[in-house]
Amino acid sequence: MPDLTTGDRTVQAQELPPALATALAGAEAAYARRCAGSAAANARAARVMPGGNTRTSLWNDPFPLCVASGEGCRITDVDGHTYVDLLGEFTAGIYGHTPPELAAAVAAAQADGINLSSHNTLESRLAELLVARFPSFDLVRFANSGTEANLMALATAKIVTGRDRIVVFEGGYHGGVLTFGDGGSPVNVPHDFAVLPYDDSDAATAYFASHGTSIAAVLVEPMLGAGGCRPASAAFLASLRRLTKDTGAILIFDEIQTSRMAYGGYQGRFGPCPDMTTIGKFFGGGLAFGAFGGRHDIMSRLDPRRPDAIGHAGTFNNNTLTMAAGIAAIETYLTADALDALFDRGETVRARLSTLFRDRQAPYSVSGLGSIMNIHGHGDRATDTALRRLMQFDLLEAGYYIAARGLIALSLPLGEGEISGFVDCVAAFLDRRSDALAAAHLRT
Ligand SMILES: Cc1ncc(COP(=O)(O)O)c(C=O)c1O
Repeated sequence: MPDLTTGDRTVQAQELPPALATALAGAEAAYARRCAGSAAANARAARVMPGGNTRTSLWNDPFPLCVASGEGCRITDVDGHTYVDLLGEFTAGIYGHTPPELAAAVAAAQADGINLSSHNTLESRLAELLVARFPSFDLVRFANSGTEANLMALATAKIVTGRDRIVVFEGGYHGGVLTFGDGGSPVNVPHDFAVLPYDDSDAATAYFASHGTSIAAVLVEPMLGAGGCRPASAAFLASLRRLTKDTGAILIFDEIQTSRMAYGGYQGRFGPCPDMTTIGKFFGGGLAFGAFGGRHDIMSRLDPRRPDAIGHAGTFNNNTLTMAAGIAAIETYLTADALDALFDRGETVRARLSTLFRDRQAPYSVSGLGSIMNIHGHGDRATDTALRRLMQFDLLEAGYYIAARGLIALSLPLGEGEISGFVDCVAAFLDRRSDALAAAHLRT
């Protein structure tokens, strides 16, 4: 039997139950036939970009979908198939694809001139809006990505504390050079990292007991995002708050995903209040963005009027297009009511999927919080990967787009019709593939 190229890695067909391997091979072949335009686009791109790719997380075997356009909560691929977009640009696409107020704000900023060579009034307005929202923000600075925001937050914490060690957690993802799934990454920045188990208060307490005075910062996602949508317990985050406070380390919440959980982010909804926070993704109104902020005494070290000021440069940090889009996004879309409703909708979707999986005794589960969730396949790693890809191929064929890794991030324009259609489609998939899924079940 041939190898099956299934997303995160190639799965050897012989690693899988035969019925699952056969179903997956058929689904993958059907995808390849149906999406010939995407295959051609990838082949063309591969002549000038490694693997035709400039963003590794988008790669899926046998080739990723090439999308031509988007409107509202739908995207259309280069072969002309339209899909309901349930991935929402890995959480960054909370507004959908054609939010009129954001387009108008960008056009207005453009009309006033791009790259103004100095300060502008938009940057302070955006900063005011953000400082008003997040409990931990006394002062804030802008960057161009979430990765950059985290890099600057860590550098600031190290300089302010005069310490080197940074505590992060297994499965954490804070950017392409701050990746802690699967034992780290060779492209990570060379900080002195201690990688502790996530959501394990005892392990954190033990580590602090022996190393507390050398720790500059703890960088933590309140819910592991790329690590499978696994929320931390309140007790874990409370213990990190207490341990950092007792030892003078700086607690940094990476809220680049979880800031959508409420008006004041995860910290505003559930607490505790960290010393610093990083945000990004949708707060730039759909344009490239990152920001780091925190307590006045920490962030004021970046004040250029100080003789000991920490430098933080970046040509596009205050670019008017992003600033204008961010302001419009916050004022128009990211209201307390809208975010609460999106959170509730996500909880409902997750409950509906869980019920489906339980009632049909399907080898799947779903984890997450609010509008961000991840479907997992049961069984060993090969089986899990195959189960997720089988579902993705079938959902694509039915017109619903989720990530190969099972991530779903709801966007604001998704309506009840699209959501119900999606849940019904998952139910139909479970019924149609019951033989292959039963075979996988025997492995769990
Ligand atoms: C929790 C988290 N932190 C940091 C990042 C990195 O942000 P960016 O891709 O904008 O550099 C991401 C991106 O997915 C993320 O999910």
